[in-house]
Amino acid sequence: MILKAVHVEEVQYGDGLAEIFSIIGPDVPPWTRLVDFIREVVQAPGTKALCREGGCGVCTVVATVPDRESPGHTKTFSVQAVSGGGGQCITYRFNTNI
Ligand code: FES
Repeated sequence: MILKAVHVEEVQYGDGLAEIFSIIGPDVPPWTRLVDFIREVVQAPGTKALCREGGCGVCTVVATVPDRESPGHTKTFSVQAVSGGGGQCITYRFNTNI
């Protein structure tokens, strides 16, 4: 399985822009780290990486997924984008700085 980003929208937050996108196929291998996917495929370099080990929180992005316990609703939570591959995040909807 290969991944691809689908751009959903750009939204204004204060002085900056944020990119909202979902991951589907095909563009890059599923083991590509989420942070690299965001920076290189989505081309949103506002998402940063520092320690690349999950210790500093610099790479945190916001993910939204359907709530299986409450049909018709979503859950929103933070994800450290260096912690996993983009293949674990298919159908997640992300919000990150551009
Ligand atoms: S780069 Fe340090 S936690 Fe993500």
